[in-house]
Amino acid sequence: MAGTVLITGAARRIGRALALGLARHGWDIALHYHRSRQEAESAAEQVRQAGRTCELFPADLSDPQAVRTLIPRVFEKCPHCRVLINNASIFKRAPLSETTEDLFDRHFAINVRAPLFLSKDFAARCGEGGQIVNLLDAKIERTFTPYFAYALSKKALAAFTELAARELAPRVRVNGVCPGLILPPEGEGPEYLARLAKKIPAGRPGAVDDVVRAVLFLLENEFVTGQILFADGGEHLG
Ligand SMILES: NC(=O)c1ccc[n+]([C@@H]2O[C@H](COP(=O)([O-])OP(=O)(O)OC[C@H]3O[C@@H](n4cnc5c(N)ncnc54)[C@H](OP(=O)(O)O)[C@@H]3O)[C@@H](O)[C@H]2O)c1
Repeated sequence: MAGTVLITGAARRIGRALALGLARHGWDIALHYHRSRQEAESAAEQVRQAGRTCELFPADLSDPQAVRTLIPRVFEKCPHCRVLINNASIFKRAPLSETTEDLFDRHFAINVRAPLFLSKDFAARCGEGGQIVNLLDAKIERTFTPYFAYALSKKALAAFTELAARELAPRVRVNGVCPGLILPPEGEGPEYLARLAKKIPAGRPGAVDDVVRAVLFLLENEFVTGQILFADGGEHLG
């Protein structure tokens, strides 16, 4: 048996696809969500239909106390938790000139602080062979973006991935996946991705399964750590 994987922000979109994809590959799921309770319950039902267990863990990851208690709650119910996938994130548009302190703090609380302390607590409990995968973004290679605080937070999480991989080796592997154009932001339709996709080498958007396959590759390769894998149709090449 593969064991349990904790996925943050897994009620919807890419996190949900990861929960279902990993369940189909034999993983039990500890599914974290924040506001999307109904979607979390329906995702849990689909995981169970795939023959795996699924426990639900609501938490607001902008709240340091909720972050502090999440890993102990997960290990109490799922003592064989072997993988943490830091997927939950916020993504708000604002160039540097429009970035407020609040916008900066929220991006860093949810996209950097929470993954860092969840990883620290997870690594203290997961034992030999634990794994952490951080969801980053092809934008970490860019020097110009109207999503300034978001891009900076993902660049910080990429640096964290390498620093943590070094400190936690050989007991725990830490890797990152950078999706590119996969799902449009809330409020945008497929034409948003189709328009942007004309500018990337692949010439088309990717699918959530491309991200699932990238994560599975990292989980299944025991000699890979500190790796940042772009699942972005070459977008990072510029
Ligand atoms: N979509 C893409 O094409 C794309 C491209 C590049 C990188 N990525 C990265 O891939 C990951 C998944 O992308 P996505 O588009 O599927 O993400 P998303 O829909 O923007 O967000 C994923 C989840 O994060 C959770 N979340 C937000 N604020 C939270 C908070 N305060 N506390 C706890 N959870 C919170 C939400 O959970 P609830 O719904 O339960 O509130 C949400 O469903 C992200 O890390 C993103 O940066 C995605």
